[in-house]
Amino acid sequence: MTDTLTIPRPDDWHLHLRDGAMLKGVVGHTAAHFARAIVMPNLVPPVVTGADAAAYRDRIRAAIPASMDFEPLMTLYLTEATDADDVALAQASGLVKAVKLYPAGATTNSQSGVSNLDKVHGVLERMADIGLPLCVHGEVTDPDIDIFDREAAFIDRVLDPLRRRLPGLGVVMEHVTTADAVAYVQADTSGNLAATITTHHLIINRNHILAGGIRPHYYCLPVAKREKHRLALRSAACSDDERFFLGTDSAPHTDTAKLLPCGCAGIFTAPNTMSCLAHVFEEDDALDKLENFASRNGPAFYKMPVNSEMMILKKQPEPVSYPEQIETGAGTVTVFDPGFDLFWRVES
Ligand code: NCD
Ligand code: ZN
Repeated sequence: MTDTLTIPRPDDWHLHLRDGAMLKGVVGHTAAHFARAIVMPNLVPPVVTGADAAAYRDRIRAAIPASMDFEPLMTLYLTEATDADDVALAQASGLVKAVKLYPAGATTNSQSGVSNLDKVHGVLERMADIGLPLCVHGEVTDPDIDIFDREAAFIDRVLDPLRRRLPGLGVVMEHVTTADAVAYVQADTSGNLAATITTHHLIINRNHILAGGIRPHYYCLPVAKREKHRLALRSAACSDDERFFLGTDSAPHTDTAKLLPCGCAGIFTAPNTMSCLAHVFEEDDALDKLENFASRNGPAFYKMPVNSEMMILKKQPEPVSYPEQIETGAGTVTVFDPGFDLFWRVES
């Protein structure tokens, strides 16, 4: 039985770092394991312009513990007022690696997102021309659509028509949660489509949130779906298909904000993500596929080199413990509880 796994240092292709005291409290948990991360721009106010992204990158760099080596990969938050020239400049300077589409109202801090895609067509066209990918929060916001159906509806109503209009646009379907999204990616022949999968969606289904009591710390968006969807995600992640890669969507909120009568969406997985993933991949007899999912497929899509440093994970005879919560200057944040003991530990 394998008890040591050596892989190129992984990257996180979808991460929320926040700002201020929360940023300082969480960034080290990602930087301890990951070399780079695509940093989501849904601050308040959002990171819209190249200048916003440069300032945010500097704040992130200043918050990284001195002993750690970590590169934030910046994104811009697409609004109906986004300027295509500004986007192109931010890419040309190397600052920005993607633009994020939030349908207005779809998730945390998405009020400034896009209501009418026609208004951003010029920006998307320019992105297709210059090879800058669009990261998509793929849920419709129509109140008539059941929340468990919003991802599938988004593919049919929004994403597929958009991709037909702009076949040259690179698209990452972020944090996919359904068999429908997996099938949509698998059916693509353009080479321009990929998807990130979170750690928690490989582990929980909707029963974990709702059966036997309501568990706010398992609530995130897109919300976890039925078991058959979780299984589809597991097989996509553990397959040899390079279009699927890790984006943890680690999304810290204070416990106070999570535990309100109307609590925030987001699951904080940064500290134990690699342990959880090694567990999941081993369970599916796919430990040898973790390297592709966490370390190789993302850089291939984003046309970046694979990290040259290595990470060593070792399986321990006894369960590895992680704190239930971390302290930040903004308040405590609960760490994702996978619901089973973890034995894999990141050694270096
Ligand atoms: C994210 C957040 O808190 O910023 N929340 C979440 O549930 N995933 C936003 C997002 O990625 O949808
Ligand atoms: Zn997210």
